[in-house]
Amino acid sequence: MDFKEKYNGYLEDFDRTLKLFCDNLDCRPQILCDSLKYSLDSGGKRVRPVLALAVSDMLGVDKRKVSNFALAIELIHTYSLIHDDLPEMDDDDFRRGRPSNHKVFGVGNAVLAGDGLLNTAYSVLLKECRKGVEFVSAAEFICDCAGVYGMIAGQSADLMHEHDKNFNEATLNFIYENKTGKLLTAPVVVPSILGGGRCYSELKTFGRDLGLLFQITDDILDVEGSFENLGKSVGKDGKEEKYTSVNLYGLDGAKLRADVLAERCRTLLEGIDGDREFLLQFVDFVRGRKS
Ligand code: IPE
Ligand code: IPE
Ligand code: MG
Ligand code: MG
Ligand code: MG
Repeated sequence: MDFKEKYNGYLEDFDRTLKLFCDNLDCRPQILCDSLKYSLDSGGKRVRPVLALAVSDMLGVDKRKVSNFALAIELIHTYSLIHDDLPEMDDDDFRRGRPSNHKVFGVGNAVLAGDGLLNTAYSVLLKECRKGVEFVSAAEFICDCAGVYGMIAGQSADLMHEHDKNFNEATLNFIYENKTGKLLTAPVVVPSILGGGRCYSELKTFGRDLGLLFQITDDILDVEGSFENLGKSVGKDGKEEKYTSVNLYGLDGAKLRADVLAERCRTLLEGIDGDREFLLQFVDFVRGRKS
């Protein structure tokens, strides 16, 4: 089976979980329900759920154990995008090929949609905790990745250093490891936790490096990508002189850095027992992605 086919298989698997979640969502008022579903329904690559399912397969962990964790991570990721696009954050008008949540529902409702997705993610996680102690550990891991020692810390530092003239590599790494790396580490490490901790530290490092690679390719796509492929505005980081990897290293330097990180990811995978083929291809996909 080729990479695309396998990716689509994981995607279909996750879409069933997400559809069930959306079908059961009937909060009131209607605008709240609509605003949550608007952002969840509008596509997205679903790289985090796909990673969770693929790492489960590599480690021989039952994918059914992981599916609600994948759901919670995608809910948290979607909330982070809604808030990231707000006028007081990145002020982006498009996301996933459609007007951003706040452009459709207004800023107040978009803040609440993000809050709603985050709270709902925690409710999904708490339900999983009833299943056993390893489920509690996995839920805790996700909370740490999403919170003030994770994605929130990265977003906070991102705001703080947006136009910082003394920006350096250490600051960039802190921001990228947290704002992007942590929500990519969670789906990679959760299957290990649920499978008794096999390859925990290797996967944690893999998640961090994959996250750095993912954010650097995001920066490169802001320069070289198209709205049609990405579904979001391009050229904004450069126009606003935002401190990104492209700004720090130059476009060619950022590509070189991405190559080094991709190689590091491959080396880490080589040290893990199991069928690594899909994940090796996943690294190439992230490095070469257009969307
Ligand atoms: C966008 O994430 C935000 C970053 C971390 C760069 P994705 O590129 O995974 O966005 P979707 O989920 O596919 O829309
Ligand atoms: C990642 O950074 C955003 C989050 C962690 C939510 P960006 O701000 O670069 O992501 P895009 O380009 O808006 O998707
Ligand atoms: Mg941002
Ligand atoms: Mg943004
Ligand atoms: Mg970006």
